[in-house]
Amino acid sequence: MQDKKLLAEEAKAFIDIAYMESEKNSDVCQARWKQIETEIAETGHYTHTLEELRIGAKLAWRNSNRCIGRFFWESLHVLDCRADSTEDEVARSLFRHIRYATNGGRILPVISLFAPASPHHPTIRIWNYQLIRYAGYQTEDGIIGDPDSIDFTNKCLELGWKGPKTDFDILPILISLGDKEPKWFSIPSSLILEVPLEHPEYEAFAEKQYKWYAVPIVSDMKLEIGGLTYQAAPFNGWYMGTEVGARNLADAGRYNLLPEMAEIAGLDTSFASTLWKDRALVELNRAVLHSYKKHGVSMVDHHTAAAQFERFEKKEAQAGREVTGDWTWLIPPVSPATTSIFHKEYNNHVHKPNYFYQDRLY
Ligand code: ARG
Repeated sequence: MQDKKLLAEEAKAFIDIAYMESEKNSDVCQARWKQIETEIAETGHYTHTLEELRIGAKLAWRNSNRCIGRFFWESLHVLDCRADSTEDEVARSLFRHIRYATNGGRILPVISLFAPASPHHPTIRIWNYQLIRYAGYQTEDGIIGDPDSIDFTNKCLELGWKGPKTDFDILPILISLGDKEPKWFSIPSSLILEVPLEHPEYEAFAEKQYKWYAVPIVSDMKLEIGGLTYQAAPFNGWYMGTEVGARNLADAGRYNLLPEMAEIAGLDTSFASTLWKDRALVELNRAVLHSYKKHGVSMVDHHTAAAQFERFEKKEAQAGREVTGDWTWLIPPVSPATTSIFHKEYNNHVHKPNYFYQDRLY
């Protein structure tokens, strides 16, 4: 009983925002609310219309305090995958997501929504952090690949996946229904766009044959809309350069490329005070931005992203809404104080709809 009451409350709050923002019509809103109220009373559940799904997913993006890319929240493409009921069907939809979002390099922001857990549906979970990600292996001679992926890679190996053990093996996708063991699916390589990295000046960098994938598709968060929880709701935008150049490839606990970059650039690494790390970081980030651009793959630099975020803040102010934010995540990891974000304060209150972390399965 308490569950129904809570669900009805959350549903009402969502319907009010969604219909008042999109239709600006309180009759339509009221009529829809009556429908939902009845459905919840009778079944303890309700079903979103496609339009509610679209609006809910977009509002959740707009409410994502850690995201600097929110200027584009209205352009999110929503793929309705709620009819999928087997692991194979889910996998097929995920492949479609990858193709659709990659779009030959002109990346589209996309979310795929699978049926929320309900009396009629077992929980669908995607175990991967991102649909496309490189494997990591702990070996006797050190780590191969992405150290961040070691636990997940072990789970894949345990399920029978064979890792080729290069530094850039694309992991399979793990999908589970209810309490069943996950099934794994290799992504057809024709669907995966990757960017070989080169530096605009230091030719020796290309010889290292580093690369990164085009589309970051976060697949382990849940989307909450109006009291319903979509536990399988993979979404993507395009990369901001620093995510790859200042974190994935640069962090000492990840690909750790700063020492190599410094050597290629001929930097004096004998003292921290030569700022060789800072200089190598900038060169690595130039290489990343340069390479994505050269290969026609969408990527935004952190200055442009921060300027877009400012436009988002202005638009929201005009609409009479407060922009909430998590300052520690919004500032870029390179030259943060050169962006306006650094010099402001943000209210980190979490509004719903929103995306939330959920318990890890491995
Ligand atoms: N930071 C993550 C990564 O480097 C990606 C998170 C989502 N990023 C995005 N631009 N939508 O892989």
